[in-house]
Formats: sequence, C-alpha cells, structure tokens
Amino acid sequence: MKHIAVLTSGGDAPGMNAAIRAVVRTAIYEKLRISASYKGYQGLIDNNIEELGPRSVANIIQRGGTILKTARCMPFYEPEGRAIAAKHLKKRGIEGLVIIGGDGSFRGATKLHEEHGFAVVGIPGTIDNDIYGTDVSIGFNTAMNIALDAIDRLRDTAASHDRLFLVEVMGRHSGHIALNVGVAGGAEAILLPETKMGPDQIIDLVVKAKERGKSSSIIVVAEGAYPGGALELQKQLEARCGYEVRTSILGHMQRGGSPSTRDRVLASRLGYMAVQGLMQGKSGVMVGVDKRGTVFVPLKQVFEKKKDIDKQLYEIAKVLAV
Ligand code: ADP
Ligand code: F6P
Repeated sequence: MKHIAVLTSGGDAPGMNAAIRAVVRTAIYEKLRISASYKGYQGLIDNNIEELGPRSVANIIQRGGTILKTARCMPFYEPEGRAIAAKHLKKRGIEGLVIIGGDGSFRGATKLHEEHGFAVVGIPGTIDNDIYGTDVSIGFNTAMNIALDAIDRLRDTAASHDRLFLVEVMGRHSGHIALNVGVAGGAEAILLPETKMGPDQIIDLVVKAKERGKSSSIIVVAEGAYPGGALELQKQLEARCGYEVRTSILGHMQRGGSPSTRDRVLASRLGYMAVQGLMQGKSGVMVGVDKRGTVFVPLKQVFEKKKDIDKQLYEIAKVLAV
C-alpha cells in the first residue's frame, strides 16, 4: 500500500483533530502518501480530496471540531454515489481509507470495501460512546467533563433556591453520558433511553426525595430518554406536583471545545494503530480499546451489535441517591 486517505464523518467529536494528526504523521513516518477528503463521504463524491504533509496537521491537537469538516452525505447511501467516490479514489491511486466517525460511517465504509475493494479501517469518534467493540470512543471524555461542569454549577443555584433542576445531556439513542455524569454529579435520578421511565415513576421519585428531606434535586435526562425531552417533562412535573422546576439543555456545547488529555491520547493511539492496521493488511475493521489494549474488531460486528449501558453503575446511582 502506497497511498491512503483519511476522513471524518457523522457528528463531530472533540479529539477528531488529534486522530487526524496521528493518522497523517504515522502515514508519513511509514513513507505512505496521505490524502484527506473534506466533509466526509461528500468529499469523495465531489472529488474534494487533497494530499497532506506533516505540517498540514500542525497546531491542531488541542482544537475541537474537525479541520477536515464533517457531513451527513445522502448520495453515499446509494451504490451510484459510492461508485463515483470509488472512481475518484482510484484515479488518485488511493488504496486504503481511515474513517473517523460513528456506526453509520462504518456502514458506509463497509459498503465501499465490499463493492470496490478498498481497505478500510474505522476509528470510533462520537461523544455518545455508543460504539460496540471499544470501551470508549473519541470525544466521550471531553463531553462528560463539559456536562459535569454544568451540573456542578446548576447544583449551586438549585441548592440556593430549593429547586428541582432537569439537566438534559446529549444522547438521542444512548445514555452513556447521562449515566456517568449523573453518578459523578450526584444526581437524584438519571433518565436514560435504555431504561425508559414514565411520568408516574419520575414523579414518585421526586416526591419521595422530598419526603426524605431533600430540598433541591438534580435529574439528569438523556436527550432520548423522555418523549418531548426535558422541557416536556418539566411541564408534566409542574402540572402534577406543583414544583418549581428549571430545565437546562446543554446541547451542542458538549460537542465543542478543546479535547481532554484522555481524548487526545486515545485519538493519538487509535490514529497510529489505524495506519499500522492498514499496513498489516487489515480491512473492514475498527480499531478500539478494551482491557487487552488496542483491538481490531470487524466493522460488521460493530454496527450490528449494541453497546449496553453499565447496569451496575445504574444500580449504584439509585443506591447513592437515597
Ligand atoms: P455516524 O457515523 O456518526 O453514526 P451517520 O449515521 O449520520 O453518522 O452516518 C454518517 C454518514 O455515513 C452518512 O451521512 C452516510 O453518508 C454514511 N452512511 C451511513 N449509513 C450508511 C449506509 N447504510 N450505507 C451507506 N452509507 C452510509
Ligand atoms: O454526536 C452525537 C449526538 O450528539 C447525539 O447525541 C445527538 O442526538 C446528535 O449527535 C445530534 O447531532 P446533530 O444535531 O448534528 O444531528
């Protein structure tokens, strides 16, 4: 293999730049040519591809977002779109790709591999940490730190006013951020998409917490945990228990900002290993981390299986909220 490409796809995550840097510098160290596609798969289709050098990735390790930009690309869902992408890659002599993104991006990569024979290696990049086959994905740690900082601040004002606060964190389909920051922030309740609770159960929790002498409470709500989100839950709680409730939706600020030490180190490790994997002839795999160290996991396994939440941690959270 003489020439590879890198792209970021799907939702951005802090640490993607550190991963791009690691991919580019490792490739150059190993005497491979390295190109980048801008705006994910859209860049392959638009031929928005550029060869990079070691200085192209200078001064980006500390920056959030992705210098390569990212996009959701509809034409890539179609075989015709992928054929155009393949034509542009072949014309440049690109034989392998590193895809930094989530499970959707890995589905696309698998199709490019199966239909056109390119070697593909995925790097998990999403704040949601919902990717099977790796203990942690790039951006998760930074996003949790941002959410936890917000919860700590909200607790100050909640306690001063004896208020109930709902804090909505990201996670449309997964509760990894909510569960972890809920435990770390001492939340009275944590609502996750994986453990849906109805309004009656939530009201019961709030009423009982008050009876146990809690004058203020924080409930962490993952985006996808309650139909209509935290604002809808606020309406229900106010109407049915007469409490004064405030809601903070943290939203996309969890996706921006400088990546944490952990995310930069993880991204550097995974970027390096992705290039090593391509050079060893690996393809159709994601490079992740677990207790064994870095691991290569078949992409099909990654997007066919769901990473469950830490059930023990969920039980612990309930006990500690007593
Ligand atoms: P993520 O990678 O964060 O899960 P998406 O699900 O939005 O984000 O996927 C990112 C992009 O990957 C999509 O916009 C599309 O271009 C490509 N993609 C996703 N799923 C498929 C699929 N089943 N077939 C082909 N391409 C796909
Ligand atoms: O990055 C993952 C995620 O933050 C989800 O938790 C959220 O539902 C989604 O992205 C929203 O992304 P966008 O606004 O880009 O569609």
